[in-house]
Amino acid sequence: MIDVQNISKSFGSLHVLDDVSLEVHDGEKLAIIGRSGSGKSVLMKHLVGLLKPDTGHVYVDGEDLCCASYERLRELRKRFGVLFQGGALFDSMSTSDNIAFPLRYFSSLSEAEVQTRVQECLDLVRLSDIGAKNTAELSGGMRKRVGLARTIALEPQYILYDEPTSGLDPETSNTINDLINHLAGELNVTSVVITHDMHSVLAVADRVAFLYGQDLEWVGPVENVHDCANPNLNSFVKASQYTIGASAASPPVSESSA
Ligand SMILES: Nc1ncnc2c1ncn2[C@@H]1O[C@H](COP(=O)(O)OP(=O)(O)O)[C@@H](O)[C@H]1O
Ligand SMILES: [Mg+2]
Repeated sequence: MIDVQNISKSFGSLHVLDDVSLEVHDGEKLAIIGRSGSGKSVLMKHLVGLLKPDTGHVYVDGEDLCCASYERLRELRKRFGVLFQGGALFDSMSTSDNIAFPLRYFSSLSEAEVQTRVQECLDLVRLSDIGAKNTAELSGGMRKRVGLARTIALEPQYILYDEPTSGLDPETSNTINDLINHLAGELNVTSVVITHDMHSVLAVADRVAFLYGQDLEWVGPVENVHDCANPNLNSFVKASQYTIGASAASPPVSESSA
């Protein structure tokens, strides 16, 4: 479990998070939503100790990240797989070598064991046959999936996804959402999905945390996002519904011409 207690974070005069508390429960799929610039990625970086709060604490399985030594933090970070927004693949390497990278760097597996694990990860993201390809040759959706294969290579307990569907077409986004669900079930991991894509939220999340201003304004089960008492969340959801409606196959004429 990840327990965020009363964290605040500023960069100079920019206050990004103010007294934010949040629990991430074991085995759940939690979506952290909010507008661009609302502090979603900043909050996510605190979960894995890449940023330290100005005040407050982040506990991972009971251990306070803020007080952990460098060595301990390194150990705790091994429990996390992070799929960063850009994917951050090495385009000078083959797909297999990209996935093998963390295994060669952080595990003591033999080269034969590395190759076996790479193939398992490719199978899990349903890209079994592309190991030899250079990642520069791959489509945006495939690159995301290779990034995901690399993220799960070291068998993390927590997977953090930063905007996993941004920049992808709706069909490819659905494939990624399916994979998030598939991996959550198959690997028994805890998933945190940072997104402003309500489509993705409804497809994957058990619970939703909504950031607005510097505050975590609302946390609740996904079933309740359409029917909650928070006006800012209401308008966020409404704006997204319009987007989803407008991109549907046959929108009403008045909407499509708007
Ligand atoms: N390392 C940093 N230094 C200064 N400002 C930052 C840093 N990281 C994020 N910010 C600022 O914090 C705000 C929240 O950023 P971010 O968490 O990336 O938003 P988002 O919700 O889109 O993920 C933004 O205004 C961003 O410019
Ligand atoms: Mg972000």
